[in-house]
Amino acid sequence: MHEIAQDLNREILQENPHIHDLLSELGKNLYFPKGILTQSAEAKQKAHVYNATIGIATEQDQPMFLPLIQETLSGYDPKDLYPYAPPAGKPELRQLWREKMISDNPSLRDKSFSNPIVTNALTHGLSIIADLIIDENDPLVLPDKIWGNYNLIFGVRRGAKNITFPFYTKEGTFNTTGMKEALLSKKDHGKAILLLNFPNNPTGYSPNEQEATEIVDALKEVAQQGMNLAVVTDDAYFGLFYENSIKESLFARIANIHPRVLAIKIDGATKEDYVWGFRVGFITYACEHPAVLNALEKKTLGIMRGTISSVSHPSQTFVLKALQSPDFQTQKQEKFEVLRKRACKVKQLLDQGKYRDAWDYYPFNSGYFMCLKLKGVQAEVLRNHLLEQYGVGVISLGERDVRIAFSSVEEQNLEQLFDLIYQGFKDLSV
Ligand SMILES: Cc1ncc(COP(=O)(O)O)c(C=O)c1O
Repeated sequence: MHEIAQDLNREILQENPHIHDLLSELGKNLYFPKGILTQSAEAKQKAHVYNATIGIATEQDQPMFLPLIQETLSGYDPKDLYPYAPPAGKPELRQLWREKMISDNPSLRDKSFSNPIVTNALTHGLSIIADLIIDENDPLVLPDKIWGNYNLIFGVRRGAKNITFPFYTKEGTFNTTGMKEALLSKKDHGKAILLLNFPNNPTGYSPNEQEATEIVDALKEVAQQGMNLAVVTDDAYFGLFYENSIKESLFARIANIHPRVLAIKIDGATKEDYVWGFRVGFITYACEHPAVLNALEKKTLGIMRGTISSVSHPSQTFVLKALQSPDFQTQKQEKFEVLRKRACKVKQLLDQGKYRDAWDYYPFNSGYFMCLKLKGVQAEVLRNHLLEQYGVGVISLGERDVRIAFSSVEEQNLEQLFDLIYQGFKDLSV
C-alpha cells in the first residue's frame, strides 16, 4: 500500500475507526498522489518568471483556444472554460454550493461536514462511493422501488449484495421498520451501505416530519447495536417538494448522529437546475473530525484522478454563473411552480375516480414522477400496447407498476395522457 494511503488510513483510524472499517479494500488503498497536479499548484503560487509545469498550452498569458469555439461562448472568459478545473472542482463553485446547502437545509447549520467535491454529475458521485465503500458481497440496503442504475453502479461494478425492503407500509407511509429490519439482518456482517433517495425515483415520494424522525431514530438504534453504516442520500430531485413532506435533505438530519454512521450526500445541478447534460454533481461527507473529512476528500480525489481526472470546466462555470445570478431563485421558483401544478393536476385527475377499476396510485408529493399500480394487466404488456396503439410512452417497473414522468408532459395534456393510458388498459382487460 502506498505510504500516502497508509497515512490517510492512520488519520481516519485515529479519529474514527468505524469509518476506517467502512472503507473497501480499494477505498483503503486510495490516495491523492503528490504528482504533477500538486507541483503545478505549487508553481501557480510561486513561479513568477516562467511556469513550465502545466499540461495546457498558453499564449499571451491566456489559455490557447480556437477562435471558432470562443465565438460561440463569447460571454465567458477563456480562463473559465479552457484550462483544467482542479480535481476537487472550482473552489468558488464548491463554496457557493456549500452555502446553498446550508441555506436549503437549516439542520446543517451546526453540523460538521466537508466541502462538496465536484463530480461528473450524480451517477459519477454514486460510483465513487461504491468504489470507496463496497467490497464483494457487502450489503446494499435499499427500498424495492429504486432507480434501476443502482444495480450497475453498486452490484455489477462492485459486487454489492442488494438487501431490499418494501418502500411503503400498508398505510402508504415510508417503511422505516422494514428499513431497520433489512439493516439488522446484516448485523453479523458488521457494515452496510444504505441508499435513500427522496424525492424518490420512481414513486415521487418524500417522508414527512414524523417519518423523517423515525428514519433518523432507526439509524441511531442500528448504529448503537454495533453496525457501521454508510448512509447515502441521493438528492437528485432536491427542492421539488410540493406538499407536506420535509423540505430538507435527510443528510442534514443524519449528519453527525453517531460515530458509526457516515452520512454521504450525493446531489447536483442535473435535475434541480434543469441542466441534465452539463454533468455537474457533488459528493459531501459528514463527520465530526476534520482529519477524517480531509482523508476522505483525498481518497475521493484519488479515484477522480484515476478515472476522469477532473470534471468539465465549462459546465462548472455555467453552473457557477447561474448560482451567482440575481435571477437564479426567481427562475427556479417559476419552474418549480410549473412542476408543482402538474403534480397537483395528476392527483386531481386520479382522485376523480374515473380510473378506479384500472389502477391505484402510490402516494406521491415531490419530484418528477409518480407510479400507478395496475389492477390485473401486466405493466410491460400495457407499456408495449400504449406505444404501438396510442404513441404513448411510459416506463413499466416489475409486474404491475407503471412510472409516469409528469415532468415531461404539459399540464393541459395530462388528462389526455391518463385517458389514453386508461383506454389502453381497457383494451387489454376485456
Ligand atoms: C434517483 C437518481 N439518482 C441519480 C440520477 C443520475 O443523475 P445524473 O444524470 O446527474 O448522473 C438519476 C437520473 O435519472 C436519478 O433518477
